[in-house]
Amino acid sequence: MTNSVERATELKRELRTQLLRWFDRSKRDLPWRKSREPYGVWVSEIMLQQTQVERVVRYWTKFLAKFPTVKSLAAAPLEEVLGLWTGLGYYSRARNLHVAAQEIVARFEGELPDSVDALLTLPGFGRYTAGAVASIAFELEAPLVDGNVARVFSRLLELDGVPGEKAREAGLWAAAEVLVSGARPGDWNQALMELGATVCLPQNPLCLVCPVRASCKALASGRVDELPRPKKPPKRKRLELAVAVARRGDEVLLARREEKGLFGGLWELPGIELVLGATSDRALQKLLGKKAAIGPEFSVVERTLTHRELVMRLHPVALPKKLAAPPPGYLEWRWVPRAELAALGMSSATQGALAETTD
Ligand code: ADE
Repeated sequence: MTNSVERATELKRELRTQLLRWFDRSKRDLPWRKSREPYGVWVSEIMLQQTQVERVVRYWTKFLAKFPTVKSLAAAPLEEVLGLWTGLGYYSRARNLHVAAQEIVARFEGELPDSVDALLTLPGFGRYTAGAVASIAFELEAPLVDGNVARVFSRLLELDGVPGEKAREAGLWAAAEVLVSGARPGDWNQALMELGATVCLPQNPLCLVCPVRASCKALASGRVDELPRPKKPPKRKRLELAVAVARRGDEVLLARREEKGLFGGLWELPGIELVLGATSDRALQKLLGKKAAIGPEFSVVERTLTHRELVMRLHPVALPKKLAAPPPGYLEWRWVPRAELAALGMSSATQGALAETTD
């Protein structure tokens, strides 16, 4: 920690001058950079977590066209919000955004609060998001560290330590705090992230064209390729599901999950987790009741999520004409014509499964 603060202090003047000048010259033209309107900045920062800039541009533009203000987002049904999020992943981000918008209306008259502490009281705001909104939208000297910034600091300041370790995180945040104090904190934070995204790349960084190469301690000692040290790979739990594909002419039966948990609030083919030793036929019979006719497995769709290996076993299913109450875990279910699928909020995993159901 001391090390990171000392090194940040030592390099502060030259880093700030060089990096801000570079940012002014070469920053990417992104739609949320046209104004510093807090709501737009907030939505962009939520979308950018775990998602590449190129993908976010389309989603952000559509989202702001549909929900141009905090108030309009707060008033929308969750389903519509999730509909615009389809394919972006990490759906709890959208649920939190929606709840936070409602809180901002209730507690702050529809305006995002202009302090880190107040922002941190809202759902979905951690240190990173609070720092980003406070610095970019409100020009407060609020530090932030994301994956890009952590990599840039690890190299510039030559910081060892394994990602995820407490001491390393503390050192990174302390360095960020030293460096953000001064003029243009929002641009400074964005310049750091921009450098990480476009120059100080994880593999094969572009050191030859780096605006701060003269100050980089890892470059001087030949350690750019070994810093930051590799992350421990995440342990993924295998989640195996039996999934029902029920069709009626052009329509397919979809169910909407309860709002909490994995894929909460999203539409999907009705399914049930296969606990050890269970057969998918029997599990589906249990899910759908005695009157359902379950056919043999016709396809298996696999997806890797952050914390899970998802395996979906697809079965054709025939159901009685009149739908009973939705199965446990679901709020509602209905027959959906293919043309309407695009308007429903669903995960990429469900989209992958649906792709297996066209003839
Ligand atoms: N990644 C996340 N937020 C960013 C921003 N505001 N600028 C550049 N890269 C980012």
